[in-house]
Amino acid sequence: MKLDRRDFFAKLGGAAAVAAMTHEARADALEHYMMAAAAGPAAAGAGSAAAGDAKSFPTAAQIDAQIETRPTRKGGGNLFSASEGNVKRLPPLPAKPTLADYFNQRFTRTSNHCLQSANRAMKNGMSEEIILACLLHDTVQELIKVDHGWWGAQMYEPYVSPKVTFAIRYHQALRFYEDKEHGYEYPDLYRRMFGVDYKPEPYIEQAWKTATKHKWYFESRMVTVNDLYAFEPNVNPTLEQFTDIIGHNFKQPKEGLGYDNTPVAHMWRSISMPDHPL
Ligand SMILES: [Fe+2]
Ligand SMILES: [Fe+2]
Repeated sequence: MKLDRRDFFAKLGGAAAVAAMTHEARADALEHYMMAAAAGPAAAGAGSAAAGDAKSFPTAAQIDAQIETRPTRKGGGNLFSASEGNVKRLPPLPAKPTLADYFNQRFTRTSNHCLQSANRAMKNGMSEEIILACLLHDTVQELIKVDHGWWGAQMYEPYVSPKVTFAIRYHQALRFYEDKEHGYEYPDLYRRMFGVDYKPEPYIEQAWKTATKHKWYFESRMVTVNDLYAFEPNVNPTLEQFTDIIGHNFKQPKEGLGYDNTPVAHMWRSISMPDHPL
């Protein structure tokens, strides 16, 4: 797909605003722009989408029809394809990589979104576990996007509390169901991504029902409430804001993430070395 540079810059607030963005924020913005453009010319207009005009969103059948127009599948992880041009060489991680190393060197396309979500949760006075769940909630999308709630929860299971993994696992299902009492409305982004008439599969509906009856429903719901679907170009929280929360709630393995022989170590290694052909 061809990028309309002028339109892209205009939507982000002009060339100066784009220049002030970090490389990662720009890559994220580009990805969302291309996603909206792929969904159709009407859907690409942020104004019409914000107005909630159902006619401007694609249908689930239209989304489905796009599958054979791409060289890669939408469920693949960010690290395995470039948002524009070719993929870049990745800097090697230290021998005993920490969560911060992964955040800084590998989670480049999800980190700003996750930091913004955690920042919002912090401002809203959420618990440390909710803030941590927000910080981690989409990072596994660097490895794989499809069913990212389940993949993400699994990848973090050895290192955080069950409450945090519950919140990460179920945010994927809860985001499809409104909960106005807790301040969650169905986002227009999903009307664009999944189609205006998309109905979640039975396993998603089942997960939502399970979560609503669970003692940790609130924690998972708060991940969706503090999730951010829009770009805020001038908001760039840093990982340092969350150093204490990570220290209290994340068990960093002394061997390094990927080398601690847990059942998920290979997931971390795959993020560390995605260029290995086998
Ligand atoms: Fe998510
Ligand atoms: Fe998210």
